[in-house]
Amino acid sequence: MDSVNRIINFVFPPLALYGLFVFYPIYQRLKSAVSIWRNVLSENVAGKVVLITGAASGIGEALAYEYGKKGAYLALVDIRDEPLFHVAALAELYGSPEVIPMVADVSKLHDCKRFIQATVLHFGRLDHLVTNAGVAPLYLFEDIDDLSKAMPAMDINFWGSVYCTFFASSYLKKSRGKIVVIASGCGYIASPRLSFYCASKAAVIAFYETLRSEFGSKVGVTIVAPGVVDSEMTQGKFMTKNGQFIVDKELRDQVQISLLPVESAERCAKAILRSVCRGDRYLLEPAWISCVILWKVFCSEVTDSLGRWLVMG
Ligand SMILES: NC(=O)c1ccc[n+]([C@@H]2O[C@H](COP(=O)([O-])OP(=O)(O)OC[C@H]3O[C@@H](n4cnc5c(N)ncnc54)[C@H](OP(=O)(O)O)[C@@H]3O)[C@@H](O)[C@H]2O)c1
Repeated sequence: MDSVNRIINFVFPPLALYGLFVFYPIYQRLKSAVSIWRNVLSENVAGKVVLITGAASGIGEALAYEYGKKGAYLALVDIRDEPLFHVAALAELYGSPEVIPMVADVSKLHDCKRFIQATVLHFGRLDHLVTNAGVAPLYLFEDIDDLSKAMPAMDINFWGSVYCTFFASSYLKKSRGKIVVIASGCGYIASPRLSFYCASKAAVIAFYETLRSEFGSKVGVTIVAPGVVDSEMTQGKFMTKNGQFIVDKELRDQVQISLLPVESAERCAKAILRSVCRGDRYLLEPAWISCVILWKVFCSEVTDSLGRWLVMG
């Protein structure tokens, strides 16, 4: 077997490069044609049923308003009740025919089962599932005293998405619906102090890429990787190494977004909805993130050093 691999190592790279050289221009032309077609046939979400987790603030909140403006029925989920009810009322004002707010913790399997079933019981169907709820654990790995305190971040960011998807997938298959996964640019690009955040988002990306190939055309999957978006998270709400939430604007300015342009949640949500309705597989928002990922693939030492300098100072 080793000799077979040695031969493949020798033969495959030039063949693969040649194939790419021949195939890529055709692929790009086909992709452009399909993209024009998708823009023309963009999905109309009026009357569709959309469930959004983490809808009480930030990107989830802005998405609730955008879907509401387009006339979608909404099931909004968050761990906090008061801001959630406020968002639900506003989404109805923006144009949603009906909004049901549900307080739940996405890291709890039974909560996810409950709110997915409640949505389908109430509206009779589910068309889009937006797995958005997330937290940002921010600390150096070497500073951790108790590793178990890091687990909730994975439970919310990764398992919270998986649980909802598990209970929603049969309904989504029935409606030939869509899953909108709010991952992060950090799922592709390493960011010091955010090891568990990056790991959870990378896991989310890998999981939904796999699911997309399992589902085929039955359920659409759009993986969204936002850059830095104005939200409670980017206003300094972090999970500490002890698993507690703090709001530390000084730390935020030191480590996270001091040099990066912050996009408004509204603009990000508009881009997400446009992309989802077009049936895109990926959305990197803002688009310049794709250039950073390109640099990461070809010159990872440079992006690593830049990340270290930006975040560690
Ligand atoms: N903002 C950015 O720059 C950025 C960039 C890339 C990716 N993202 C991703 O975008 C998503 C939304 O983040 P955001 O920036 O809009 O942050 P946000 O304003 O903090 O919104 C996240 C929402 O999720 C809720 N949530 C947290 N844990 C939950 C749980 N266990 N069950 C149910 N709801 C829960 C939060 O409630 P609490 O406030 O009570 O915790 C909050 O309302 C996240 O997945 C995040 O990783 C954000």
